[in-house]
Amino acid sequence: MFAPFKLKSIAIPNRIVMPPMCMYSAGDDGFVTDWHLVHYGARAVGKVGLIILEATAVEKRGRLSGGDLGIWDDVQIAGLSRLVEFCRAQGSAVGIQIAHGGRKSWGDDLVAPSALAFPGYPVPHALGTSEIRDVVESWRQAARRARLAGFDLLEIHGAHGYLIHEFLSPLSNQRTDEYGGSLENRMRFLLEVVEAVQSEWPGDRPLCVRLSAVDYLEGGLTITDTVEIAKALKAKGVDLLDISSGGILSARIETGPGYQVPFAEAVKKGAGIPTIAVGLITSPELVQEILANGRADFVALGRELLRNPYWVLEAKKEQELWPEQYHRALPTD
Ligand SMILES: Cc1cc2nc3c(=O)[nH]c(=O)nc-3n(C[C@H](O)[C@H](O)[C@H](O)COP(=O)(O)O)c2cc1C
Repeated sequence: MFAPFKLKSIAIPNRIVMPPMCMYSAGDDGFVTDWHLVHYGARAVGKVGLIILEATAVEKRGRLSGGDLGIWDDVQIAGLSRLVEFCRAQGSAVGIQIAHGGRKSWGDDLVAPSALAFPGYPVPHALGTSEIRDVVESWRQAARRARLAGFDLLEIHGAHGYLIHEFLSPLSNQRTDEYGGSLENRMRFLLEVVEAVQSEWPGDRPLCVRLSAVDYLEGGLTITDTVEIAKALKAKGVDLLDISSGGILSARIETGPGYQVPFAEAVKKGAGIPTIAVGLITSPELVQEILANGRADFVALGRELLRNPYWVLEAKKEQELWPEQYHRALPTD
């Protein structure tokens, strides 16, 4: 858990990751606020190895909520940059998840591969080919801004029923052009986004993609599909996969501690690419088991790090890890 991991030029000091978690605390303009600085800053003070900022919208119409962070305009760079600087100064590596909600976006301007509504949402507009090109361009511009803001890692949100996942899953993609039908066609949009991002994201900084490994539904994505997607992403030069599940139609299915670890393991072994495991993981023992058995390379603790920003400090009560300001709180026995 405390072994560093080097990804490209970025040294990640330990294997604990804070996964992206929406804070619904930016205003309508998507700017970083004091909330974000204190919230992410606390996890950096708590020595989390890699902090990945919440889903940050590449287009205003692609926000998941009215309070999402945004990266659709150059004026948003300065606030993000301040956050990166503070967290990095505490020793954490800092990433950002860039996202487009597709048919599960906030508001009325919904776009998707096909005009199929997510339950409770309006029917989305099916993107035409030139509109797809414009959306891909938004991802490219977001990657440029993430580079300028100084992030160590970029994560493309390809999971949880949002735009990229909507292209990947046959349950939401019924296109008959080159973006629909076969798995090769359904992953075309994702691969175009990856290429566009890579044209702006520095080659020496890691690129990560979050995927929903399975849809848990008849006719949906399976782990076999996801291993194929992972192989294609690896061939494109993606460095890390963050393996989640569900979201295309039903709520995610949380069956118990580490329930998504087998998916991260299957992807790591099947495609030979480093992975992050996530989902109901709270104990140092389970983290150790996952890492020691080579089932994943990183472990993300979501809600556990919301409950306890100092989880890492508590797992290792040693002076060299703890921030100097807190040394007087170290147990003396
Ligand atoms: C408040 C909250 C917000 C979340 N927002 C995001 C998000 O922005 N992007 C994302 O990919 N996952 C998001 N998730 C999912 C988490 O990243 C994580 O995968 C999930 O909580 C399971 O991990 P856990 O059991 O350790 O909490 C969110 C989860 C929570 C609890």
